Amino acid sequence: MIHIETKKGDLSPLVIVPGDPLRGEYIAKNFLSNVKKTNSIRNMFGFTGEYKGKKISIQATGMGVPSISIYLNELIMLGAKKIIRIGTCGTISDSVNLRELIIVQSAATDSSFNKIRFNNEIDYPATPSFELLLKAYNTASALKFKTIISSVLTSDTFYYETDMSSRFKLWEKYGITAIEMETAALYTVSKGAAVESLSILSVTDHIIKKDSLSPQERVDSLNEMITLSLETI
Ligand code: HPA
Repeated sequence: MIHIETKKGDLSPLVIVPGDPLRGEYIAKNFLSNVKKTNSIRNMFGFTGEYKGKKISIQATGMGVPSISIYLNELIMLGAKKIIRIGTCGTISDSVNLRELIIVQSAATDSSFNKIRFNNEIDYPATPSFELLLKAYNTASALKFKTIISSVLTSDTFYYETDMSSRFKLWEKYGITAIEMETAALYTVSKGAAVESLSILSVTDHIIKKDSLSPQERVDSLNEMITLSLETI
């Protein structure tokens, strides 16, 4: 593949996809055994190892819809069958707190990628695998992790130019509690390829309250999100 040099036999059908390559390395080092580094192209690291006796692969995706779409297409061509994204998001809701985990039930988007895919004729409802969602919910409850099941916005914009507060209020009213930049692409690309997928996000930023997690809180939240993704897949 152009962006993933992992050999077909080295990729597990079960793949965890963090945005950040160093986070991928952290998972491989701290959670997997018998680890092999399988991809280094553009430093977008990929690893395959074992978790509780099961072969699992990790592949970083970078940030944003175009970047994750490239990695997802290649992972699927290499044989991925279940894909769980772990990432971060900023909340636009007063009732969501930093450090909580969002299991993403659906993703709206301002990206044009599905307008192009569907010829501007429909708004695609990007949704996860119900089986993975249910398993993640039950697993999080058993582990007593504070989780929210909700919709998010997959945005192409991180730094908005104009005051967005009235839009944030409107979106929140319709169930969008947070903004991130990849999930709508994951849910769309995987559905089109009959691959199961789910996105689990850690709330690292409070966009309205202008607050964010401390480095230690980020690590604690990351560890919960990794555990939840590995136990679910
Ligand atoms: N916006 C978009 N994506 C994000 C944010 C944000 O504020 N925080 C973490 N990922």
